[in-house]
Amino acid sequence: MAALDIHGLRKAFGGNVIIPDVTLALEPGLITSLVGPNGAGKTTLFNLITGFLRPDAGSVHYKGSDLVGLSPQRVTRLGIARSFQDLRLFNEMTVFENVLVAQESSFRLWTRAAACRHTDAVLERVGLADKRDTRAMDLSYAERKFLNLARIMALDIDLFLLDEPASGLDGPSRTTFHTLLQSLKDEGHTVLLIEHNLDIVREVSDRIAFLNKGEVMAFDTPERIFANERLTDLYFGTAGRPAEAASC
Ligand SMILES: Nc1ncnc2c1ncn2[C@@H]1O[C@H](COP(=O)(O)OP(=O)(O)OP(=O)(O)O)[C@@H](O)[C@H]1O
Ligand SMILES: [Mg+2]
Repeated sequence: MAALDIHGLRKAFGGNVIIPDVTLALEPGLITSLVGPNGAGKTTLFNLITGFLRPDAGSVHYKGSDLVGLSPQRVTRLGIARSFQDLRLFNEMTVFENVLVAQESSFRLWTRAAACRHTDAVLERVGLADKRDTRAMDLSYAERKFLNLARIMALDIDLFLLDEPASGLDGPSRTTFHTLLQSLKDEGHTVLLIEHNLDIVREVSDRIAFLNKGEVMAFDTPERIFANERLTDLYFGTAGRPAEAASC
């Protein structure tokens, strides 16, 4: 059974069809990267899956339920969390508070002491334990990215949808990111990752879904996708310029 089964999903804004017809099944326990040029519809697809947008047609099945029509809170409660391309942190709050507050949205009944212990464990995991009492606004760029990740890792979640979590990270931070992703996979989580950096995509992905103009043009292993010249031409464009990470 697929970890997420998207069938015939369609979305138009006004008369502009952004997602004509997406069908995609995520294999459980794998990291699937969703790649494609700027404006391909990747973030829109996340919004449709997680209840931030309602599709015009189609279904999104997760553990036997159709997610279409559910609120984002309800989708999270079922076990799906997503990160946003723009970091949505509480700048005036400390690192610890940012994660603790996020955890409250998991609807899990923690005692205060258990919630604090869990928050500290997550901060340790993402390498932010020593920044526990630092305000989010005083963190470096990479630290803010890891705090953003910690906020969803603190939830009781099976499926992670990550929108450009590694954009702008330097070499060592990318290694930390890779280790974190691998640890999520080792725990049996399923990850759908939007990423523009093809080196990262190649390193971390078990599968790649290639999205262009709102259509899944290919779904395959990294080896096969990278060997497909038609797709690389589409990605890099006729001018030979790579798609850029809009959030950088
Ligand atoms: N709420 C909206 N109303 C109208 N148009 C929208 C809306 N959201 C997205 N779009 C349009 O849909 C298209 C796809 O946008 P989307 O943000 O999903 O692309 P993306 O693949 O995530 O791109 P990027 O790699 O730059 O983040 C774009 O042309 C965008 O302008
Ligand atoms: Mg996007």
